Amino acid sequence: MRLLVCGGAGFIGSNFVRQRVGEHGDEVVVLDKLTYAGRPENLRDVEHVFVHGAIEDPAAVADALEHGVEAVVNFAAETHVDRSISGPEAFLRTQMDGTYVLLEAARERGLRYVQVSTDEVYGSIEEGSFTEASPLNPSSPYSATKTGADLLVTSYVHTYAVNASICRGSNAYGPRQYPEKLIPLMILNALHGDPLPVYGDGLQVRNWLYVEDFARGIGHVLQHGQAGAVYNVGGPDEATNLDVVRRIIALTGATEDLIEHVTDRPGHDRRYSLASDKIRALGWQAQVRFDQGLEHTVAWYRENTWWWEPIRSGEYRAYYERQYGRALG
Ligand code: NAD
Ligand code: DAU
Repeated sequence: MRLLVCGGAGFIGSNFVRQRVGEHGDEVVVLDKLTYAGRPENLRDVEHVFVHGAIEDPAAVADALEHGVEAVVNFAAETHVDRSISGPEAFLRTQMDGTYVLLEAARERGLRYVQVSTDEVYGSIEEGSFTEASPLNPSSPYSATKTGADLLVTSYVHTYAVNASICRGSNAYGPRQYPEKLIPLMILNALHGDPLPVYGDGLQVRNWLYVEDFARGIGHVLQHGQAGAVYNVGGPDEATNLDVVRRIIALTGATEDLIEHVTDRPGHDRRYSLASDKIRALGWQAQVRFDQGLEHTVAWYRENTWWWEPIRSGEYRAYYERQYGRALG
């Protein structure tokens, strides 16, 4: 297939591009604004055409589509909940304006469209798991703007018959994830002997999904998903944040006294959990259990200092100081 992958220089998008080119022989055009989270080096070993631009810019989208594609897969988003709390504006621009511009392009050209979305649109659940029919109940500016984008996609299916599907993934982890997110942050801090900042009591639960499994699920929906359908893509294992941090301590050889309970995130969702029966019926299943994926992820960060050293010495230091009120070690 010939694909336009928006946000393909980020964590999950770059894994998806690597899979599609390497395993399916697809030709891929990547459109990416290269925010702090977008890194061309994520794709340095993958053949692709790169267009530098924002999804909310119709001229940049038109440029990218000049290359002639059959489908658009949209990963591009502002993705960090804490940043959405301190500065929501960019989230509105990218999630809402950007998704609108891409949908207009798909409508005009009759392109297949896949929106990459999140379990956070359903809000928090104490027991059981969300299905695709569960009500939408987002808590943060991040999840509210992801929900808005999903609703826009659905409206384009119903009103303009755009051939679009939505994938809602649970918490992804693995190589090349920016270290503002729990797992890479804890791995790098543990390797450096820095404090491990756990929000509140640390008993919040997340449903962990290895990034390659998520990327494969999105490819599966691209090829086999129905127009207008939503597919949950949930991980095989749930864990509390404290449990995740303790496993990382064991894998890195750090010590438990590095754990520091810090002020909780405002509006913090307690638990996410997805039922993924619908995508399983399409033939997808998660392959990587959390123990195995976490071990591999820790090993990847240990071995690939070239990837994270420039991050820890750049903008991230200032972000870390603002977020945690202390300097990075
Ligand atoms: P990321 O932050 O690592 O990467 C986002 C990418 O989008 C970056 O390359 C960035 O430069 C690009 N981007 C941001 N704004 C843009 C814009 N306006 N125009 C063009 N490019 C832009 O994110 P990720 O973790 O890889 O997430 C990818 C997608 O998957 C997002 O839509 C996110 O909501 C969704 N998702 C993420 C997770 C997770 O656990 N990380 C889980 C479920 C869903
Ligand atoms: O659930 C899918 C979502 O997962 C994606 O849509 C988001 O893009 C992605 O960022 C992620 O959101 P979370 O808020 O769940 O992930 P984060 O890594 O920020 O936090 C995971 C949990 O760890 C959460 O309960 C908050 C907690 N946490 C996080 C950080 C960064 C801490 O306790 N300490 C921290 O320093």
